[in-house]
Amino acid sequence: MLMKSKKVLVVGVANESSIAWAIAQALLREGAQVALTYQNERLKGRVEALANSVTPNLPIHEMDATNSDSVAAVFAKLGENWGSLDGLVHSIAFAEKNDLTPGLVKTPLAGWNTSLHVSAYTLLELIRGAMPLFEKAGGGSVITLSYDTTKVYPNYNMMGIAKTTLEAAMRYAAFDGGRRNVRVNAVSAGPIKTLAARGISGFSKMYEEAARKSPLGRNVTTEEVGNAGMFLLSPLSSGITGQVLYVDAGQVIMGAPASEDA
Ligand SMILES: NC(=O)c1ccc[n+]([C@@H]2O[C@H](COP(=O)([O-])OP(=O)(O)OC[C@H]3O[C@@H](n4cnc5c(N)ncnc54)[C@H](O)[C@@H]3O)[C@@H](O)[C@H]2O)c1
Repeated sequence: MLMKSKKVLVVGVANESSIAWAIAQALLREGAQVALTYQNERLKGRVEALANSVTPNLPIHEMDATNSDSVAAVFAKLGENWGSLDGLVHSIAFAEKNDLTPGLVKTPLAGWNTSLHVSAYTLLELIRGAMPLFEKAGGGSVITLSYDTTKVYPNYNMMGIAKTTLEAAMRYAAFDGGRRNVRVNAVSAGPIKTLAARGISGFSKMYEEAARKSPLGRNVTTEEVGNAGMFLLSPLSSGITGQVLYVDAGQVIMGAPASEDA
């Protein structure tokens, strides 16, 4: 029960494959109280059904993270219901399909702005909203989800820029929150078949190559990413902030695919 008496807001559940859902499940397993958000009316039913499948009366709120009023309304509700907050999961990203195709230099400014707004700026928006509730808890822990920013992946383009920005924002936010005992870290997950991943053309190839390349010879499961996320939200990681934790079966350390006879 690593998360006993901890209250955590999880943003980014779309369906049962979502990384955010795996994190929520790990948190619930370890005794946390969890609140979920869904992006819009279209996703409401699915998120409600998931929540009801694990525990009755799990709080669920609508939140468009790019809309400040929507974000403020959720934190106001959490303040009323919980009074304080111990953890926050930011597991959201978006880029227009055209801005994920090869030819980064052709990216229009609007596409650049959208990707960075949804995928990186919202981390700051959410931390800002959570801060008064973290202060009431005497501190807090925030995690966000990244993908290997050390290399170029064809078809990832604008999302690669967004993840690099996100990681930098995570480090600066870790500095900002540090003296208030608020930690901010990123989990850099290996490829996982989710709704968001389906928007990347050639994802299946990326997925197969990652498994072939990684020291463990496979891809990670959402459960493994969920457990690592839970660890960073838990008191076990109390000395860790501003870090990127790779949960990718070791993929990032490899310069070339492992040979078959290695
Ligand atoms: N799937 C992978 O291979 C992989 C690997 C590494 C990192 N990630 C990252 O993990 C995070 C979660 O993605 P996922 O793969 O679980 O896919 P997913 O599609 O299940 O989750 C993406 C979520 O972002 C939400 N979202 C998008 N715009 C939003 C907005 N304006 N307001 C609120 N929510 C919004 C969607 O509703 C959805 O719940 C993303 O940051 C993604 O880049 C994914």
